[in-house]
Amino acid sequence: MGFDSDITHAAQTLLAGGLVAFPTETVYGLGADAINERAVARVFEVKARPRFDPLIVHVPDLESATRLVTAFPAAAENLAARFWPGPLTLVLPKNDIVPDLVTAGCPTVALRVPDHPMALELLRAAARPIAAPSANPFGRVSPTTADHVREQLGDQIDLVLDGGPCRVGVESTVLRLSDQGAELLRPGGTALEEIESVIGQVELVRGEVSSRDREGMASPGRLPQHYAPQTPLVLWNRDPPGRTGAGPADSVAGVKGRRCGLLAFRPVDDSSAFESVEILSASGDLREAAAKFFAALRRLDAAGLDRIVAEIFPEIGLGRALNDRLRRAAH
Ligand code: TXA
Ligand code: MG
Repeated sequence: MGFDSDITHAAQTLLAGGLVAFPTETVYGLGADAINERAVARVFEVKARPRFDPLIVHVPDLESATRLVTAFPAAAENLAARFWPGPLTLVLPKNDIVPDLVTAGCPTVALRVPDHPMALELLRAAARPIAAPSANPFGRVSPTTADHVREQLGDQIDLVLDGGPCRVGVESTVLRLSDQGAELLRPGGTALEEIESVIGQVELVRGEVSSRDREGMASPGRLPQHYAPQTPLVLWNRDPPGRTGAGPADSVAGVKGRRCGLLAFRPVDDSSAFESVEILSASGDLREAAAKFFAALRRLDAAGLDRIVAEIFPEIGLGRALNDRLRRAAH
């Protein structure tokens, strides 16, 4: 089938209550008609996702987003104008069109316009808001190719649209906007620095559960264990203060004598202690590293190793999102 007939078929499948995995610029999503509660319920089932974890709703444009909320504050408008389509999800007060199942009972809905031609075509063809979490079993590594989706969920879903590898490679940034200001719920593909250049300071929601979350607005992308490989993962800091130059095999305990893999941001001098080595960017480019991150983690996880040693990224730009995923994978 060609591109157009694929999309038409996928849109019809969604409108009939089916589940369609589709590419976005960040990761592959597992899509369902957000207005169809039975379809949405199937997404939770297939992912084995707890019902308290709300889904992101995907729309093709700003206008479609405004139809699902009771307020679209100026800060949200400025962010949408600057970053949509793109890897930024805005959490805003929902209206009655959005089923409670989608938002896990939260009074807010998470909205995003993905920056991918196939995703946008699909959203326009379906002409419905599409709820789509990442297309992986709950808590596991996110898919950045159609093959990753087929391997993990293949027989349980109706269709996988193949748009090639995802360009950004790490999930969208999730930002909650309210009268209290802007809160970063999940660092992601839009850098915090870029967001702050548009709306000023953003509150970082640290720790696993904030006081406001306990009042029923949890963002379980912040659950301590998430994005996790099966192989135990330990973190390596290349440049700890006051002690630089030690390689990963010397500075991480328990590498010698074990079958270990290395997931490094930049090239290392000596990786001979490692059975399998993934270098994410020869030039130290965080964008390149993000695009390769989940696929590299999967390859190491499939190599039957005792342990994965993963380099901590610089805590700037996309490095913030990558470190967030690493810390959860290491938990
Ligand atoms: O890049 C992405 O965001 C991908 C692609 C497919 O769009 N989607 C994705 O969805 O990562 P998911 O379900 O894996 O992550 C959604 C995150 C979760 O951390 C969830 O808790 C949070 O968004 N979230 C969704 N609705 C929320 C709400 N109303 N309030 C707070 N957090 C919310
Ligand atoms: Mg996910």
